[in-house]
Amino acid sequence: MGVICFTSLKGGVGKTTLSLNTAAALAKKGAEVLLIDLDPVAHATRFFSRDLPRSEASLAKLCLLPGVINESCLVDFAVDNKVPLLREARERLVLLPGGAELRHLVWGRGANILKHVLPKLISELKPSFDYIIFDTPPDFSILVRNAIATSDLVVVPVDGSAMSIDCLEQLSLDASHIQGPRWVIARSMVSKQALRLRDMSEKKIREHLQISETEKDLFSTTESEGQDENLVNIKSPLYLLDTIVYRTEEQNKLTFSAKTAFESVAANKLASQYLSLANEIDAILMLSEEEDAEIENHQNSNINDQLPNEKVEKYLRVNTDKEYNREMTSSL
Ligand SMILES: Nc1ncnc2c1ncn2[C@@H]1O[C@H](COP(=O)(O)OP(=O)(O)OP(=O)(O)O)[C@@H](O)[C@H]1O
Ligand SMILES: [Mg+2]
Repeated sequence: MGVICFTSLKGGVGKTTLSLNTAAALAKKGAEVLLIDLDPVAHATRFFSRDLPRSEASLAKLCLLPGVINESCLVDFAVDNKVPLLREARERLVLLPGGAELRHLVWGRGANILKHVLPKLISELKPSFDYIIFDTPPDFSILVRNAIATSDLVVVPVDGSAMSIDCLEQLSLDASHIQGPRWVIARSMVSKQALRLRDMSEKKIREHLQISETEKDLFSTTESEGQDENLVNIKSPLYLLDTIVYRTEEQNKLTFSAKTAFESVAANKLASQYLSLANEIDAILMLSEEEDAEIENHQNSNINDQLPNEKVEKYLRVNTDKEYNREMTSSL
C-alpha cells in the first residue's frame, strides 16, 4: 500500500518497463493499481492505449483549467469540466495518461499550479487504490521532483552501466533536500553473460552504498528544531533491492506487442522477476508503514528509551548481503 516513483536521470534504463510490469504484477496479486504517466513522451500511455486515439495528458489539462487552485475536490472538478482523468488499462490497473502537454507544467504558471495540484490529487485518489505508481521522464524537472516528494518509495533503476551509476550519484545529490520517501536501487536490464561487467558494476554500486551507509546523510533530511536526531536519520539510507531483472530478447518482443510479462506464456521467467520485484516493494512499503506508526507513537509518547526497530533497514540489509553473496559465488 503506497505511492511508488520510478525515476532515474539516465534515459533508457527501464523505468517505464519496470513501472508498468510492477503495476501489472501488483494488479495480478489482486491490488487496485493506478499508474501515472508523468512523461511527456508517454511511452507507458502508448503501451496501454495502442489502439486508441492519442490522448491528452489529463494532469496537464486539469492543471490548466481556470480556477483549479481554489477547487476543494479536483476529481469532481475534472468531471465537471469534462477532463477524463483516468482510463482502464487492464483489469485492476488504471492509467492516468501522460503526453506532450505535460511540458506546460515544467515552468512558469504551470509549474506553480502543479505544486499545488499534484499532492492534492494524489491524496484524493489514494483511497481508491492500493498502489499509485509514477513513471517519470529521465530528468529532474519539477514534474519529477513533485512525484518524488509525494511518494513513499523511490525506485531508481540501474542497468549496470557506469553512466547509470553516475546518474544515481548525481540524483542522490540533487534530491537530498526532498524529505519523506525511502530510496532503493533496482537492477534492471542486467546481462547474464557479461560477468566481468556485472562484477564491476556491483562493486561500483557497493562503493556508493557504503558511502551512504557510513555517512548516513546522502538522502538525509535537514534536521528541524526540536526533532530527535536519531529519528530524523532513520529514513535516510539508499538500499539495493534483492531482485534483478535480466536483459532478454523476450522483453523487447513484449514491448513490441504491448504485452506485460503476465500476458505471454513465453515470458514466465520475466514475469517471476517482476513479481519478485513487486513483492519486495510491497514488503518494504508494509514495513515502512509499521515503522512510521512506531515513530509516531514514539514521538507522541515522548519516551526516549527505545527507538523503533528499523525493520526496513534490517530487511534490506539481510537481502542485500544474501544476494551479493549468491551473485559473487555464481559468477566465480
Ligand atoms: N529486461 C529487459 N531486457 C531487454 N530489453 C529491455 C528490458 N527492459 C527494458 N528493455 C528495453 O529497453 C528499452 C528502454 O526501456 P524503457 O523504455 O523502459 O526505459 P526508460 O528508462 O523508461 O527510458 P526513458 O528514459 O526514455 O523513459 C525499451 O526498448 C525496452 O523494451
Ligand atoms: Mg520511460
